[in-house]
Amino acid sequence: MGRVDEPGIPALVSYSQPHTNAWSENIKSASGVVFVTPQYNWGYPAVLKNAIDHLYHEWRDKPVMIVTYGGHGGGRCAKQLRRVAVRLRMRIVPTSLALRLSDAIIREGAELNPDRDFRSFAPQVKRALSELSDQLEGNESVLARMRRKWKVALAVLS
Ligand SMILES: Cc1cc2nc3c(=O)[nH]c(=O)nc-3n(C[C@H](O)[C@H](O)[C@H](O)COP(=O)(O)O)c2cc1C
Repeated sequence: MGRVDEPGIPALVSYSQPHTNAWSENIKSASGVVFVTPQYNWGYPAVLKNAIDHLYHEWRDKPVMIVTYGGHGGGRCAKQLRRVAVRLRMRIVPTSLALRLSDAIIREGAELNPDRDFRSFAPQVKRALSELSDQLEGNESVLARMRRKWKVALAVLS
């Protein structure tokens, strides 16, 4: 996705670009979101911020899990991303994953072997996925509650 090329502010107006509408539908139809990003100079890359800023309402109440990777795992860029997710009123999975890559992978282009290189992260991965699953169930039960309310309202009206 290129720079934000909408003439208006996404929070206030409807979109004019087909790619923004497609992106919007994509996020609207998702039950949750997983941001996976490298850490660059303690931050996350501009393309990710740009993709986030194309939309606004779509992010609200969406469960979000944050996965970063880099030489130091990416905790600092996860912190930035969390602040943005708070602003967008997303439901943030408490455990973020910060995957530390070896020098051999980063500097020498050695091939990543998830079984070997990510084995030590398995407990955090399990915890984060279980929290994400709780958030997704939470969302569904909110919907279920709304449906029940709606039925009650219909019963009262009829
Ligand atoms: C411009 C640049 C800045 C980086 N800064 C950091 C950093 O601050 N902390 C870190 O842990 N890794 C840093 N790295 C390492 C990257 O996170 C790592 O190389 C990662 O694998 C790059 O992912 P990519 O190949 O998907 O771009 C940096 C890499 C680049 C290219």
